[in-house]
Amino acid sequence: MKSKLKIAMISSECVPFAKSGGLADVVGALPKALQALGHKVIVILPGYTHNGHVNNLRPFLSPMGVWMGDIEEWCAVQTTERDGVTFYFIQSDKYFDRYALYHDADFNDYQDNPRRFGFFTRAALQLCRDIGFAPDIVHAHDWQTALAPAYLKIWHWDDPVLNEAASVLTIHNIAYQGVYNAAHYGYLGLQWSNFTPDKFEDHGQVNFLKGGIYYADLVNTVSPTYAQETRTSAFAHGLAPYLNKKGDDYIGIINGVDYDHWDPSVDNLIPARFSRRSLAGKAACKRELQRRLLLDDEPDVPIIGIISRLVHQKGLDLLAQVIEPIVHNMHVQFAILGSGDKGLEWYYGGLPARYPGEIGSFIGYNNELAHWIEAGCDFFLMPSLFEPCGLNQIYSLRYGTLPIVRATGGLEDTVQQYDEATGTGTGFKFWEPSAHAVYHTVGWAVSTYYDRRHHLKEMVRSAMGQNFSWKRSAQRYLEAYSQATVNKILTLG
Ligand code: ADP
Ligand code: GLC
Repeated sequence: MKSKLKIAMISSECVPFAKSGGLADVVGALPKALQALGHKVIVILPGYTHNGHVNNLRPFLSPMGVWMGDIEEWCAVQTTERDGVTFYFIQSDKYFDRYALYHDADFNDYQDNPRRFGFFTRAALQLCRDIGFAPDIVHAHDWQTALAPAYLKIWHWDDPVLNEAASVLTIHNIAYQGVYNAAHYGYLGLQWSNFTPDKFEDHGQVNFLKGGIYYADLVNTVSPTYAQETRTSAFAHGLAPYLNKKGDDYIGIINGVDYDHWDPSVDNLIPARFSRRSLAGKAACKRELQRRLLLDDEPDVPIIGIISRLVHQKGLDLLAQVIEPIVHNMHVQFAILGSGDKGLEWYYGGLPARYPGEIGSFIGYNNELAHWIEAGCDFFLMPSLFEPCGLNQIYSLRYGTLPIVRATGGLEDTVQQYDEATGTGTGFKFWEPSAHAVYHTVGWAVSTYYDRRHHLKEMVRSAMGQNFSWKRSAQRYLEAYSQATVNKILTLG
């Protein structure tokens, strides 16, 4: 493999420009880590307007024509640089001047999402051609950009700029596949001969992720355990046979953490800084969090934190069945931050009024409060039904906030089970997806807090010493890029 790769990363989200979940954290950090290892990365993103103005954005190309099916669409491109990475934004008022990334104010997905992201992906490849950036690797993420590997093989196989690019598709969550009415297929310009059950066709509809899996030179997901789980029908939402067909070209790579942003010794968003060696600041963060969320000012009562999209995946309907018995029967507080499902928003949003001083919640999106919760809590709860990687439990480790998790996907891979005999471990895990298991595992953590203080202290030290830096994960991606490159050469014959 070349010593200096040229990588074009195409994504619908990226911190600090546009975020709905962990995908944005990953695309915000991985390019930086790859660049630090000596490679050239460009990141291509939609130019959403709802976030307001991005600083230092420069006009770059206007207009740029993009062929979709038999229609030519027009857009403009803006650019900026950060940490040596070049970012390009595809501007299109028609597609990206909206209320939010994927849905309107009532959480209804935009009807034209397949066209918005099909267009964006095609435009990203067109941009590479127009600026003569010949990537060694095109790296796509989730269904939104899963068509990139397909466009490369269907349209750009003899293109002087793009013909050598190998493609990698990262699946951050297989529950979201981008399945749409086949009426959109013509617009996408993928040729009707490819509308077959092994590629894009899915019960008469078009499935973006399925097509991407077929065409990508290598597919990965974001933890080894989730890679195993999604090879089975229980987890893969219909795609297990297609992932299994990839053989060794479907792998799991655990996400890293951007410790420039998520480390209590440098975090400027939290009330006080602290580290493994000096934990005094954590007590101050706990006190301030209790004040902010109107919790009782009790330094020796454990706080359990939750930061989450309020969706079925996260298992918060299980918690809803037992959170009230938990606060009745255990001496504990909750600090909850989340948004999403209206029923769950209503339920969790209403708890502070019914349990004043014991449960604090904020319904909405608030990055600063997310940092406060990581810093000020004693435990962090993620009872997910499935979790491709999960980032908050890894952030929690560094903040000395012990994770209580269901042992699935990346939660299984990043948290070490507490052993009561030896006092080792970094968190508390359960397997059964039930409210009963949530109740008892929270009880186990809380009793450890009160009854085995010496174990808890040792666990906090060990959790804070874990290292999930992006450097290591970026190295795994480089290996994946080299495997993809070999596959690409083999398919060329
Ligand atoms: P997912 O991508 O499935 O939502 P992750 O754990 O990978 O789960 O990533 C979630 C990311 O989104 C974290 O950075 C977390 O702090 C953030 N997040 C989720 N909900 C909120 C919220 N309501 N306010 C602030 N940040 C949030
Ligand atoms: C998805 C998954 C989450 C993962 C994130 C980043 O949103 O739900 O588990 O951490 O992507 O890869």
